[in-house]
Amino acid sequence: MFKKIAKLIKLSLFELSLSNIYWMIRLKNFNFPILIFRSLHLRMGKNSRIIHRAGRLHLGCRWGISRYKESDLTIYENGTLEIRGDMKIYTGCSVDICSGATLSLGSGGISNGARIVVFDKIIIGHNVGISENVTFRDSDNHCIIGSTKPVTSPIIIGDNVWIGINATILKGVTVGEGAVIAANSLVNKDVPPHVLVGGVPAKILKENILWNTPSMIKVWDQEPRKNHKSVDADDRS
Ligand SMILES: CC(C)(COP(=O)(O)OP(=O)(O)OC[C@H]1O[C@@H](n2cnc3c(N)ncnc32)[C@H](O)[C@@H]1OP(=O)(O)O)[C@@H](O)C(=O)NCCC(=O)NCCS
Repeated sequence: MFKKIAKLIKLSLFELSLSNIYWMIRLKNFNFPILIFRSLHLRMGKNSRIIHRAGRLHLGCRWGISRYKESDLTIYENGTLEIRGDMKIYTGCSVDICSGATLSLGSGGISNGARIVVFDKIIIGHNVGISENVTFRDSDNHCIIGSTKPVTSPIIIGDNVWIGINATILKGVTVGEGAVIAANSLVNKDVPPHVLVGGVPAKILKENILWNTPSMIKVWDQEPRKNHKSVDADDRS
């Protein structure tokens, strides 16, 4: 108990942003499902909302005693952030949920320097291990004249997916459960479950793979919280 209180005091004094209090008051929700760490700027546009299904989002946290970097999460007008589990997005991230778009987060971790831009929908599964400087972008924003492909299309990342450093995931991609994406890959096509893909563009390199998810879960997971209730943070209207 004493340890828990000491940890909470240390967190509040040295790690967390004062904006936690601002958002709790502004959204009238003292069970606000996001813990905002230092140097993270959360902005919410008109009628944007946070839907809380389970868990908590640690936003802009750091590894050990590494330095906090400037980080942003912006939910534009009518945008939605859905929290479905315990997820950590580490410092240096830049997340834009554009007008009317939805980012749905499961559980696991997204390491330093993530870039997530959602124009329609990005769904991230449970127990994911997403490494440094990974980019998700579900829209090309412009199109090559004559191309029949959609400019914008949702991205779905399955459960237990491991994405290596500097990978980029483009529009319309579904990554199957347990798949591994090698470092520096450019993923522009669906990835079947339990394969290793790599390269630019990413191709299947190994099939029927398993990776050591349990140790990853140990690293990423936070302490389980008892009797957790699911509450909507809801919009500010
Ligand atoms: C995915 C990864 C773990 C695979 O490692 P591995 O099991 O040792 O795989 P191998 O080195 O045997 O590679 C299998 C094949 O894929 C190729 N390959 C591996 N990584 C690749 C990459 N990033 N891009 C393109 N091809 C790659 C190898 O050259 C090899 O091809 P070959 O059989 O023709 O020689 C590793 O390549 C990787 O990306 N590591 C970085 C992970 C990371 O970002 N960690 C950060 C902390 S989460």
